[in-house]
Amino acid sequence: MAEVNLLRSLPQSKRGISARESAKTEEHIRISREYGKEYFDGSRDYGYGGYFYDGRWLPVAADVIGHFCLRPGDRVLDVGCAKGFLVNDLMLECPGLEAFGLDVSSYALMNCQPAVTGRLHLGSGVVLPFPDDSFDAVISLNTIHNFTREGAVAALKEIERVSRGKSFVQVDSYLNAEQKMLFESWVLTAKFHDFPEGWFDVFKEAGYKGDYYWTIVE
Ligand SMILES: C[S@@+](CC[C@H](N)C(=O)[O-])C[C@H]1O[C@@H](n2cnc3c(N)ncnc32)[C@H](O)[C@@H]1O
Repeated sequence: MAEVNLLRSLPQSKRGISARESAKTEEHIRISREYGKEYFDGSRDYGYGGYFYDGRWLPVAADVIGHFCLRPGDRVLDVGCAKGFLVNDLMLECPGLEAFGLDVSSYALMNCQPAVTGRLHLGSGVVLPFPDDSFDAVISLNTIHNFTREGAVAALKEIERVSRGKSFVQVDSYLNAEQKMLFESWVLTAKFHDFPEGWFDVFKEAGYKGDYYWTIVE
């Protein structure tokens, strides 16, 4: 297990909290958790405020490929792939790589990058519809915290089950009380979040042995 920032090349503004236009309400939370059009392409109050392909995942894909020494013919799964931007870019950065995704959002899958049509599966990360050891690497970016704690344990077990030993997850966390308060005022979809120590307990409970990093709102 190693802490590694595989999203280091993403623009810092990706989750800038200043962009939200009004204070969140229970209704904002309910609608964002549907992971439909409002969440991806609606107002910023419900989520992304527009989730468009702009090439920002290309350097992330290069870092993932380098970190896991992936080669043409290897199989990679992105759990919580949304519209498949990273799946698309993994295959652009390493022609011949077999990349796939899974997401609970039929809206995201029906508005995916054209090149990944047919590579993205509809389903929940809690039960991955794939055989044991079927991927050379499995990644999950900013998705596992959208489950309950119990669901997060189940999802991490599934990642461990379908991967052949290489995996990476990035989840919501905070390093001090101030960051925690800011995060809680901002968060819409996450159902379970914790300090790294709490996440390490979850990793241990799941038997998760892969790499990890934290998304911290600042
Ligand atoms: C913050 S977005 C991250 C998307 C993408 N991985 C990224 O980093 O841009 C969270 C994603 O998790 C997906 N998601 C939420 N609950 C899920 C579940 N139970 N199983 C699979 N995907 C889920 C959402 O549809 C959404 O695409």
